[in-house]
Amino acid sequence: MSSELVVSGMRPTGALHLGHYHGALKNWVRLQSLYPCLYFVADWHALTTHYDSPEVIGDNVWEMVIDWLAAGIDPKQSTLFVQSRVLEHAELHLLLSMSTPLGWLERVPTYKDQQEKLADRDLTTYGFLGYPLLMSADILMYRATYVPVGEDQVPHIEVTRELARRFNHLYGREPDLEEKVKAAAAKLGGKNARLYHQLHMRFQQEGDAEALAQARALVEAAGSLSELDRERLLGWISGHRKQILVEPRALLTEASRMPGIDGQKMSKSYGNAIAMREAPESVVKKIRKMPTDPARVRRTDPGEPERCPVWQLHLVYSDEATREWVQVGCRSAGIGCLECKQPVIDAIIAEQRQFHERAQPYLDSPALLRDIVDDGCDRARKLAQQTMHEVREAMGLGYR
Ligand code: TRP
Ligand code: SF4
Repeated sequence: MSSELVVSGMRPTGALHLGHYHGALKNWVRLQSLYPCLYFVADWHALTTHYDSPEVIGDNVWEMVIDWLAAGIDPKQSTLFVQSRVLEHAELHLLLSMSTPLGWLERVPTYKDQQEKLADRDLTTYGFLGYPLLMSADILMYRATYVPVGEDQVPHIEVTRELARRFNHLYGREPDLEEKVKAAAAKLGGKNARLYHQLHMRFQQEGDAEALAQARALVEAAGSLSELDRERLLGWISGHRKQILVEPRALLTEASRMPGIDGQKMSKSYGNAIAMREAPESVVKKIRKMPTDPARVRRTDPGEPERCPVWQLHLVYSDEATREWVQVGCRSAGIGCLECKQPVIDAIIAEQRQFHERAQPYLDSPALLRDIVDDGCDRARKLAQQTMHEVREAMGLGYR
């Protein structure tokens, strides 16, 4: 269906690491050939937690976009932009805030979680409470159908869905809707139009679900309707109002099994990360230093891959044959740990070679990068303006 669209954003955390690549970016790359995709730098989101250290944002934005391109995001297929350069996001955030119950925001699990986890930060602000609302605005702005996110973000998508529903309910009243529905039904042809009205009545008066399903099928099957008419007819039978904002669905990103060099989940804040564009010498050093199964004190001591973080990397990078070689060699002390690490080192460096290659043109001429982002911001803004036009109209702000 051509109206499907993907939106996702990332906070500008600077150079991305292999956990970001295997966790999120690889998925973004895959999606760009399936749907129109908008990917943006969530720089305002960064300020909701770091308003007192804005210096963390600037350079990080560009480094991050270079990493997206390094991962294989193709600016010809995907729209890349920066949130703060599409001011409409702020307007929609504000307008949504008018009708958002405080409790909805206070109940989002990340609100309390983050306050506890990031105890050194001041998260008692209005901006931080509104984080999920800003995220909703990012998504609803483009009428996104799919939002690829990690599990921790799913509650935010839920709030987004509730907000869309609430908004449509409050403001989705089309003037003269009944007249417009009649006109649209007429386009189904005389017989089908009568059937449509009968089915509508059966569902409205008797709650006959079969009638609802039949009416839906009738409308779906009609070839010559405009999108708007189709929407009116579908909305009318189920008693819903006009859909101004679209309820998105989360596309759950499979939790990355990418371990850091200490075996914990790879994360910049744990200091255990390997950057996507890390220098090869540094990769060699980091992997060589990785801890292994503590049972292998001497070269002749057998080990157990399940207790070794290096094995986790084999699961990401090695083929069946290599894994077999590791399992047998480790348990029989037939191979040494440095030997075991070599295929992982080789695979990471090979993977990173393409990252370095793709990034190089943008490092050589930053203007190229700015052009891509300028262009993306323009494209995003055009879409945003269309939505905001309808939102303003619906909220009674159409006088200009
Ligand atoms: N909150 C997301 C995160 O921390 C980033 C984000 C902001 C986002 N706006 C979004 C993700 C809209 C998807 C869609 O990872
Ligand atoms: Fe880990 Fe490989 Fe050493 Fe076994 S041989 S402990 S899997 S590094």
